[in-house]
Formats: sequence, structure tokens, C-alpha cells
Amino acid sequence: MMLRLLLAAPIAALAAPAHAATGEAVNPWVALAYLVSGVFFILALRGLSSPATSRTGNRFGMIGMLIAVVTTLVTHDIANIVEILIAIAVGGAIGLVIARRIAMTSMPELVAAFHSLVGLAAVLVGWAAYLNPGAFGLLVGDSIGAVSKVEMGLGIAIGAITFSGSVIAFAKLSGRMSGSPILLPARHLINLGTLAAIIVLTALFAMAGPAETMPLIIALTVLAFLIGFLLIIPIGGADMPVVVSMLNSYSGWAAAAMGFTLGNTAMIITGALVGSSGAILSYIMCRAMNRSFISVIAGGFGADDSSSGGEAKEQRPYKQGSAADAAFMLEQAEKVIIIPGYGMAVAQAQHALREMADMLEEKGVEVKYAIHPVAGRMPGHMNVLLAEAQVPYENVFELEDINSEFSQADVAFIIGANDVVNPAAKTDKSSPIYGMPVFDVDKAKQVFFIKRSMGGVGYAGVDNDVFYMDQTMMLLSDAKKMVEEIVKALD
Ligand code: TAP
Repeated sequence: MMLRLLLAAPIAALAAPAHAATGEAVNPWVALAYLVSGVFFILALRGLSSPATSRTGNRFGMIGMLIAVVTTLVTHDIANIVEILIAIAVGGAIGLVIARRIAMTSMPELVAAFHSLVGLAAVLVGWAAYLNPGAFGLLVGDSIGAVSKVEMGLGIAIGAITFSGSVIAFAKLSGRMSGSPILLPARHLINLGTLAAIIVLTALFAMAGPAETMPLIIALTVLAFLIGFLLIIPIGGADMPVVVSMLNSYSGWAAAAMGFTLGNTAMIITGALVGSSGAILSYIMCRAMNRSFISVIAGGFGADDSSSGGEAKEQRPYKQGSAADAAFMLEQAEKVIIIPGYGMAVAQAQHALREMADMLEEKGVEVKYAIHPVAGRMPGHMNVLLAEAQVPYENVFELEDINSEFSQADVAFIIGANDVVNPAAKTDKSSPIYGMPVFDVDKAKQVFFIKRSMGGVGYAGVDNDVFYMDQTMMLLSDAKKMVEEIVKALD
């Protein structure tokens, strides 16, 4: 179903035999090369849908991009080839350095920063096409065709929204700006008014004569930058993953709109793929957090100032254990379910964890890993880390596939997770995570909870009743250190 959805737009795009604005025939070899690259992109998405095939998926994506870029460079007289190669080398070098340096935990903010560049590129391409329509083949007679102007206006508007929205998302995720929502009075009215103004300006821009377009396109661009900013500031930190994926989707549609303006099928294909996959991912994340997409976009979740790193207020009695206690009980267990979370990523404890699981399996204990769709700080975060530690894929289970097994588990081993096991999501209507599906760890006979201190909270900034349950043993330490000590004790 998803594949059909993703295929629909590129195929429709490729069916167009000529540049929409000028009617200029498209070289069939170019169309074929773009079709092949589109097929590679679709194979890439298919590969990326499972950790087992994700590397192959990535390779398909790279091949598709190579074909698209080479075809564009060979067949288009866009600019001096030397200048383009220098730009590719500089951009590639910067990308390489950033990709090598970035910590996995900072990935969402990097993605947000990269989206802002896609948005800005769409704005700049739109403006370049507006200022020099002849070079882009957009002239119908001596002015730009109305259809091209609509595509241009949409591309610039979506690009500008993506840019300013992504800059705010980056600032919030990287802690350069408070993660708390900034709620302006009458913000819904202001936002709706601004969006309506952008639509009206796009229509006026499309209909205006050549002499009247400049103020309209300037106003449209400024308002679109403003609405991107206004749309994202009211959104709280806990909803940022959805925002990043939504901006990802916008950046795709901005690229697709520019693809129509430029008559570039590869851009339409990739834009449609990014746009639709980003939208689907946003939907999946909203479902995983039990949030409606509209309420996320409207903002307000996490309005409580305690969000994103506040302190747990209450001090209640809890049991603390040592690595030796944990090792002893793990050895006695028949079934252990490991729930990794953000803290495992921070501590980089995945390799030690794998070693511990291997030792337990050697001792005849059944070990399974339970992954929540929003565990960590980005979609697939835990899957990537476990794959890096070469945890067998068949031992890794999604929430809905394993949640019923906690009642048969001897130990629920929580390592750096918090919000995804918080029962307040099921019981406390006032909790910011209320409604998010969580693991039923309370059904396990024993719960081991690794975190550094009782004061630290999860992303949503709320206390967790699991700490204080009778069957819970708190293992207060850095996750990697604790697991290494358990491994030593198991030896
Ligand atoms: P969180 O609820 O954020 O909890 C992280 C836990 O790890 C905390 O209890 C923290 O306690 C502990 N921790 C941190 N560093 C540690 C270390 N070095 N060693 C041991 N423990 C450490 O994590 P989660 O359960 O994975 O939930 C994810 C949350 O993030 C959800 O609320 C989700 O909505 C949100 N979110 C998700 C995403 C995506 S798409 N995955 C993106 C952004 C936000 P201490 O500080 O006491 O150690």
C-alpha cells in the first residue's frame, strides 16, 4: 500500500512528456535515467523499512542520487561545470566532517539543520527562476507563464516555511532556545490569516503583469518565512520529532514544486518521495504517541515548564540494588525483556548490553529486546544502536508484538528508558504523555531500572511510578558502567 502511494507521484510525473511551461520535449534518455534513479530511490525506501536491509537501502539511494546528479549535469546547461564541481566538493566535505563528528543523540537537530538548507535552496532556486526566467525555460512570450508562477510561488512559500520552521526546530532541539512552547495570544487566528494571505498573494502573483510581480513575490516570501517561525514556536519539545519529520515532508514538497518549475523529473520524483514518506512518518509517530497530527501542529503539548529536563518533584521510598544483585537474579531468570531508551544511547551501552545478553543466553536465559517507536530521540534510534552492536534482528520486537509478553517475563530490564515505560501514560489524564502507548513493565515479576540518579527525568519531564514499585530494583549508575559490572559479575 505504502509502496503504491510512493510510486504514484513519480510515475505520474514521468508520464509528462514535456516541460509543463514551455512544451519543450524531454530527451527520452534523460527521462529514462530519471526513471531509473526514481526506481533506486523507491528501492532505497523499501530497504530502509527494516534494519536488516537498511544498508542495502542506503546504497540504492546513493546509486539513484548519483544517476540523477550525473544526468542533470550532463544534460543541463545550468552553470559552469567547474563551479558546480567546486560547490559539490565544498558541500560534500562539510557534510562529511559533520556526519563524522555528530553524536547519534544529536541527530534530530542535525536533520532539522539540513532541512533548513533544503528549504532555503528552494527559496533561492525560486527567486533565481523569477529573476532569470529565460535561463530556466520559463518564458511564454516575454513573460513567465501563470502555471510556472503558481509553482514558483508555492515552491518559495513551502521552502521559506521549511527554512524558518527548521531553524526554530534546530534551536529548540540543540538547547539554543527553550524547548517550552511560546504561546502567542490569538496565534491560531494570526497563523490562519498569514496562511490565507500567502495563498491570496500566490494567486495575485500568478495573475499579475510583469511590472507588478516584484512586490507580490517579496511579500509572499517574507510572510512565508514568518509563518514558518510562527508555526513552530508554539510547539513543545516533546513534539519536536513529529515537527522534524513534518518539516522533512515540507522540504520534499518544496523540492517537488521546484521540480515542476524547472521541468526536472528527478526533482519531482525525489520531492514527492521525501514529501510523502515524511508525511507517513509523522503520522506513524503521532500514532505511537497517541497524538493527533492537528493537535501537534496546533501546538501546546509540553506547555508545562517541567518539560524537557525538569526535576522529579517527589521523594518516595525505592529499592536500590547493585550489579551483583542484578547479575544473580538475571541468572535465575527464564525470560528477560530488555527495554532500551535514550540513556543507553547517551552511555553508548549497546555493546556491553549485547555481551550481557549473550552471556545470559549461554546460561539458558531467553532474552528479547523491546523497542518503543519513540524510544530515544529519533525514529529507529534504538534499532540503529542495537544493529551496530550486532544484536540479532530476530530478538528485537516492536511494542505491539511484545507488550503482551511482560506477564510471562521474569525480568523487565530497563536501560536508559523512562517515558516509554511510564504507567502515567495509561492512568494520569493530566500527564503530558497521557495516551502514549507504553510497555506494561509492571506485569513482569522483577523490574531492573538503570538510570544515573533518582532526580533525573525523561524527555517529558515527569516522575515515574515504576521507580517505586515493590518489584523494582533501581540500578543507579551510568548505563554502560552498570552493564559492564553486571557482565563481570556474570563471568
Ligand atoms: P527518556 O524518557 O528521555 O529517558 C531517558 C532516561 O535515560 C532518563 O531516565 C535518564 O535518567 C536516563 N539516562 C540518561 N543518560 C543516562 C546514562 N548515561 N546512563 C544511564 N541512564 C541515563 O527516554 P525514552 O524512554 O527513550 O523516551 C523517549 C522520549 O523522548 C519520549 O518522551 C519521546 O516522545 C521523546 N522523543 C522521542 C524522539 C524519537 S522520534 N525517538 C525524539 C525526541 C523526543 P538520568 O538522567 O537519571 O540518568
